[in-house]
Amino acid sequence: MNNIPNTLRLSKLLHPDYQNLVITDVVELNETTKLYALKSAENKELAYYEAGSYIPVFVELDGNVVERPYSLCSSPKEALKGTYKIAVKRSAGNYISTFIIENWKVGDKVKFGSPMVAEVYNKLRDGQNIVALAGGVGITPFYSMAKAVVDGDNDHNLTLFYGANTKDELLFNDEWADLEKASNGKFKLVRVIANEDVEGCERGFITLDIMKKYADVDTATFFISGPPPMMAAMKKELAPLNLPKKRIRISMNGDGGFHTDKKGSYKLTIHMGGETYQTEALASETILVAIEKAGLKPAVYCRSGICGFCRAYVVSGTYEFATDEHGVRKMDQHFGFIHPCCSYPTSDLEIVVQRAK
Ligand code: FES
Repeated sequence: MNNIPNTLRLSKLLHPDYQNLVITDVVELNETTKLYALKSAENKELAYYEAGSYIPVFVELDGNVVERPYSLCSSPKEALKGTYKIAVKRSAGNYISTFIIENWKVGDKVKFGSPMVAEVYNKLRDGQNIVALAGGVGITPFYSMAKAVVDGDNDHNLTLFYGANTKDELLFNDEWADLEKASNGKFKLVRVIANEDVEGCERGFITLDIMKKYADVDTATFFISGPPPMMAAMKKELAPLNLPKKRIRISMNGDGGFHTDKKGSYKLTIHMGGETYQTEALASETILVAIEKAGLKPAVYCRSGICGFCRAYVVSGTYEFATDEHGVRKMDQHFGFIHPCCSYPTSDLEIVVQRAK
C-alpha cells in the first residue's frame, strides 16, 4: 500500500497533465503542411510514447484555450533524445490547424499534454505483418512506426501504402528510401498516385489488388489513417476479406469532417456544471464543436472516440455516430451515453456534459 503514492508520483512524472515546450524548427513539407520540432522549455525529459500515439496541443484563441490532438511523427527514440515532431496541415474545417500554420514560429512557447495511445502496434493482438493504408497527413503515425521498426522498438514487418493525387503531395519524400534500406527488409513503402504517372509508383487509388501485389493480406493486420472519404474507401476495399474487427485498426483524425455534406441546424441544450446553456448545432459539425463554439469548456482529450473524456448523457433528441469507430460501449449506448467528439445531431438535442477540470 505504501507504494501507491510513489506509483502515482511516477505516473505523473511519466505522463504530466501539461508539458511546456518550445518550437525549435519549422519545415514546410508542401504547400499546405508544416512540420514542427519541439523540445522542453524547462529542460525536462519529454513524456515517452509508442509509435502511432497522438498528443493534445493547447492553443489560446480569443481568450479561450482550445485543444486538438495531433499524431506524433517523431519516433519514440527521438522523444528519448528530447524531441517531439508533429505535422500540421492547413484545413478549411480545422481552424486550430490553420491558426498553428499561420502563427507558430521558431522560439514560440507552446503547451502540450501527454502522449496518448491511439492505434499503436500490439504484438499479442496484431501479429507479425502490418499493412498500413495512408492518405494525406494521415501518414504521420506510420512515419513514426516506420522509424520505430528501423530503430528496433517495433518488432514487426510494415508494408505501407501511401496514396496521393500527385507526387508533390507526398510527405517525407526524401526519407522513405533511407528508412527502407535501414530496415533490413522489414519496411516497404508503396506509393500510389492518382493523377500522374511517376516512376516507381503505382498509378490510381489504393485497391485490394494493389495490396495483394505487395503484401500477404491473408495474415496482415490493417491500420488505416487518412481523411474520412479515404478511410471509407479502404474499408470497402477490405470488405471482401471478411476480416474480424480486430484486424482493421482505424485512426480517427480528431478533426471531425465526416458529415460535411449534411445540411441544417438544430437547437442544442447543454447542462454543464449545474448551468444550462442553449446554442445552435450544425448537422455538419460534431456536437463537441457546437459546445465549444458556444464558448463552453467540456472535458475533452482525444477527439477521436478513444479516451472517453467527453462522454455525455443524452436527455432527449437524436444523433448519429461519425463511423463505427465512435468508441461508445454497447452498454453505454443502451443507457443513452455518447461521445460528442464522434457524434452529429439529427434533431434538437438536450445533453449533460462534463466541464473540463
Ligand atoms: S474526447 Fe476522447 S472520446 Fe471524445
